Amino acid sequence: MLVFEGVFAGYGGGDILRGVDLVVEEGSLTCVVGPNGAGKSTLMKLVSGLLHPRVGRLEFKGRSIARATPRQIVKQGIVQVMQARNLFPELTVRENVELGAFLVSDGEVVRRRYAEVCEMFPIVGERAKDRAGSLSGGQQRMVEFARALMTDPVLVTLDEPSMGLEPRAAKIIYDSIVSMHRAGRSILLVEQNVRAGLERATHGVVMEAGRVRLEGTGADVLANPQMRALYLGGTIEEGRVASSTGVGAGAAAPPGAP
Ligand SMILES: Nc1ncnc2c1ncn2[C@@H]1O[C@H](COP(=O)(O)OP(=O)(O)OP(=O)(O)O)[C@@H](O)[C@H]1O
Ligand SMILES: [Mg+2]
Repeated sequence: MLVFEGVFAGYGGGDILRGVDLVVEEGSLTCVVGPNGAGKSTLMKLVSGLLHPRVGRLEFKGRSIARATPRQIVKQGIVQVMQARNLFPELTVRENVELGAFLVSDGEVVRRRYAEVCEMFPIVGERAKDRAGSLSGGQQRMVEFARALMTDPVLVTLDEPSMGLEPRAAKIIYDSIVSMHRAGRSILLVEQNVRAGLERATHGVVMEAGRVRLEGTGADVLANPQMRALYLGGTIEEGRVASSTGVGAGAAAPPGAP
């Protein structure tokens, strides 16, 4: 459904993505993991139209979105929840959620979708009249998810949605992602908690230094011994692990362990 082929991109000071090949299948929950600075958020900026490939193919449902604007991308059914929090703290929860439907002119459709997202995220209905800024971090994430669903997206892209949340709040966020997936949305998730993300994913992707280094089912990627070395500061090169720490892979804690 979403295809990257030979994608190079950066911010003007050289390429950050250096030949990304990746397919996000329709109906999948694809989870991208990788060390800080690997280029995960940069990849997500391409999918939201905030950044464009310098070289390479980027297609959604067979059509190029390489030069599409964020608005055109939302219209085609892709929505993104960014890495940084981005609710309007002074607006109410309801106002924030309804802003998600800015491209929908039919008030009846907006009302119906609002009722649907309240069912999926009860916090939205419960705190509808409260200032968004008065909610906890985890609750604000739910409101961001609800706002994203107001566009009725085919593909939901999420950049580190559990960041900064305590384990219980993070678990609720993971459950919500699984619920969105079960409800028929395709999901592209970037997650720093490797275990939590890959356990739930149908497809796992490991990025390092601007490229995809490992791929497979979530469970296979999680079980791959190369993962341990990568998260101890090693690198994956041409299918082999080059550890820069000198720590043997066998002695490592599993990825995602605190
Ligand atoms: N707006 C920008 N301008 C210039 N360089 C940037 C910009 N945003 C990111 N970079 C650089 O691109 C590289 C990759 O950053 P990116 O945010 O994609 O990594 P990431 O994999 O999402 O990391 P993290 O796990 O820390 O979120 C980094 O070296 C970063 O400094
Ligand atoms: Mg990032």
